[in-house]
Amino acid sequence: MIDADFAVRGAAELLTMDWELAKPPALLREAALAARDGEIVWVGADRDLDGAVALRPNATVLDATGQTVTPGLVDPHSHLVYAGDRAHEFALRCGGAGYLEIARAGGGIRATVAATRAATDEELLALALPRTDALLSQGVTTCEVKSGYGLSVEEELRLLRIVRTLAGRTPMALVPTLLPLHALPPEAEGRRDAWVAEMVDELVPRAAREGLCRMVDAFLEEGAFTAAEVRRLFARAREAGLPLRLHADQLSDGGGAALAAAEGALSADHLERVSPAGIAALARAGTVAVLAPVATWVLRLPSPAPARRLLEAGVPLALCTNLNPGSAPTESVALGLGAACLSYGLQPAEALWAFTRGAAKALGLDQRIGRLAPGLRADVALFGCADHRHLASHLAVSHCVAVAIGGRLVASPRGARCSPPGPRIT
Ligand code: NIG
Repeated sequence: MIDADFAVRGAAELLTMDWELAKPPALLREAALAARDGEIVWVGADRDLDGAVALRPNATVLDATGQTVTPGLVDPHSHLVYAGDRAHEFALRCGGAGYLEIARAGGGIRATVAATRAATDEELLALALPRTDALLSQGVTTCEVKSGYGLSVEEELRLLRIVRTLAGRTPMALVPTLLPLHALPPEAEGRRDAWVAEMVDELVPRAAREGLCRMVDAFLEEGAFTAAEVRRLFARAREAGLPLRLHADQLSDGGGAALAAAEGALSADHLERVSPAGIAALARAGTVAVLAPVATWVLRLPSPAPARRLLEAGVPLALCTNLNPGSAPTESVALGLGAACLSYGLQPAEALWAFTRGAAKALGLDQRIGRLAPGLRADVALFGCADHRHLASHLAVSHCVAVAIGGRLVASPRGARCSPPGPRIT
């Protein structure tokens, strides 16, 4: 018998994500899962649990009858530490204004940088916490958080320290990413090279020395940063032992996907304008394509990322909220799932795979999270619907009833059936 201190029982559907995305989903029906000391030890049919698993008397048992169970969702791309509001940009975009037009008029990332710099640490934490709570209550158990709204050495370090403090205030696992080349701040006009040198040669080693970030990211785009600048950053990040990510081919085909692949980046993100050569390069390198369907929609870009072509080429796919005040001003995971299905022609199970296993791959964490299989961390989300397709089709509405991280019930947004009862976090 396998000893366990946590179990989920009677799931109408349990999606292990233990399949490759191109293959059909391995749905388990009337399924159960058991964990011990935070790790999954058993997954199978509910009727077999009692014969295989000895539950300790004080074990936490979640009744998932009539519910869908997935691995804890993973958000691999967010910018959730920021101050200020850019609702007026939304209105401008609805009136036809474009991304670069808004940025050149002083809006966009620079506007958030000004508001974020003006906010105190406590103010930024107070703004960020409800965002992490909102993600957690929808079943997100791991979330990547980027800097990128500080844009000076000290301000970027400050944002990363705030992410570290935030990580101590939420049960969700936060993965901090340094995003120094996000936009050129106004004070760097006329001294661009010197500013880039500070970001690359001073900031990256300091952030690495202090252990403040797990990855380094950049925005390669017309109006943002060039391939040469990104390569310079990546060389320094590699020296510091930090994995790479890249905002690539979002507004124009700048060869970002090929650069990300050539540099061995974990992911290339956005990719609305990726070229066939870029797709082939990602496939060869095994670089994950992180797609942000809500941003494509909010920015009113002419076409979505070619998700099917990426999949057919063998590129692993991930989905993210991209939560930020400009291109993705929403915490809604369900909106992202629905938009991915409608924009890309993904099946709901494929979109869920991309929001769990694919996202874990994008963070280099797929040996630890993103699947329900023995040996992985017992991060589990329970949803109050018997058919997983509701998670995408009921647009922008979360069905999450319970969230466990490391085999511990951490949120119960709609009253989980738990013995003994756990915390209720709405
Ligand atoms: O991932 N593309 C660049 N960065 C963000 C947008 C951030 C913002 O507009 O504030 C993104 O979409």
